[in-house]
Amino acid sequence: MVVTSSAQSPRRILITGGAGFIGSNFVHHWCKTYPSDRVIVLDALTYAGNLNNLTTLKERETFRFVQGNICDRALVTDLLQQEEIDTVAHFAAESHVDRSILGPEAFIQTNVVGTFTLLECFREHWQNRGRHDHDRFLHVSTDEVYGSLEPDAPAFSETTPYAPNSPYSASKAGSDHLVRAYHETYGLPTLITNCSNNYGSYHFPEKLIPLICINILLGKPLPIYGDGQNIRDWLYVGDHCQALDVVIQQGQPGQTYNIGGNNEVKNLDLVLRLCELMDELAPELPVRPSKTLITFVRDRPGHDRRYAIDATKIKTDLNWVPSETLETGLRKTVQWYLTHRDWWQPLLSNEYQAYYQQVYRG
Ligand code: NAD
Ligand code: DAU
Repeated sequence: MVVTSSAQSPRRILITGGAGFIGSNFVHHWCKTYPSDRVIVLDALTYAGNLNNLTTLKERETFRFVQGNICDRALVTDLLQQEEIDTVAHFAAESHVDRSILGPEAFIQTNVVGTFTLLECFREHWQNRGRHDHDRFLHVSTDEVYGSLEPDAPAFSETTPYAPNSPYSASKAGSDHLVRAYHETYGLPTLITNCSNNYGSYHFPEKLIPLICINILLGKPLPIYGDGQNIRDWLYVGDHCQALDVVIQQGQPGQTYNIGGNNEVKNLDLVLRLCELMDELAPELPVRPSKTLITFVRDRPGHDRRYAIDATKIKTDLNWVPSETLETGLRKTVQWYLTHRDWWQPLLSNEYQAYYQQVYRG
């Protein structure tokens, strides 16, 4: 379903982490939907950031890319002032659970200290420029802050208590609390979204869906953690971007909105479906049928068993529901990885291979 936003444009929007997976999809969404808005991307270009995600926007007059760290207070303050920013959409984060287990420090630095730095800079800027009505600070967060669900437990709602289980989710929980506190204490016009697992174009190869697509194309083993019965609730990234748009334009400052796809699937079933789609759509594969590549590997420590999102609030209050089904979204995604080898091949660098060895060495 396409929701027409009651847009308070033109906006001057700072998008942090806009060279990453969801951030870059959001940048494309915003530039297409609001062509006269000023769009500034601030991204440190860590291993997960990729300027190739934004190539088609380079020549646009209303677009600017700045390479920099959200923890750099002077840089953030200058950008907010120079560009007269009225809206922040904050995606920048360390986002991969397995990396947070191998090395949690970067997660605390970017996700907690970085979010704090942005909040401080935006608070000062917002106060100095006279607290305009349509100023907004959107903090993009995750359903992982709520912890793990028992098989029959109700889905996470906005009032579910936080119970993060990994360094990644704990750092995101910390950042959510800071954002909440800045609204309660200073009245900052914040919005928080907690979303389920995304998938789609520009998804870095370390995550389950792109990893499986790429390994099938390379004829490599398809690693499934534990017994493969863990459940995730999958949402197509384009639907997430549309939901974030609606939250910025129509959400109530100080509120949290859960966003989900209503697509609970066991990991093993998801991988089997990806194998079928690849077998159907790929003209040539090194190994066929692809499912013969499935390999069960050592489980992720602290692996959350089940996530599920109750997205009633965003549906009722803001009239948002997803457009894609899991079937249509997965088909598009498999096609994208099939036709974008030039995008993903360079990402399988030595650094990536070293990381892969560490996680999958058994
Ligand atoms: P990603 O890892 O693909 O991208 C993160 C981006 O942030 C990269 O471009 C990286 O270069 C940049 N970055 C990292 N540290 C930075 C720093 N210190 N300063 C500036 N830039 C920095 O992440 P993603 O999957 O696109 O996730 C984006 C946001 O959405 C994250 O906050 C994540 O917690 C949240 N989220 C992700 C999912 C998902 O399924 N991927 C679901 C719900 C919420
Ligand atoms: O729920 C939202 C979260 O979804 C986001 O906050 C995170 O940023 C994002 O990375 C994602 O976290 P997950 O840990 O759920 O995603 P990942 O793709 O890493 O794993 C999905 C499921 O698949 C999970 O149960 C672990 C499993 N898995 C993952 C990999 C990489 C495997 O079985 N094998 C693998 O090789």
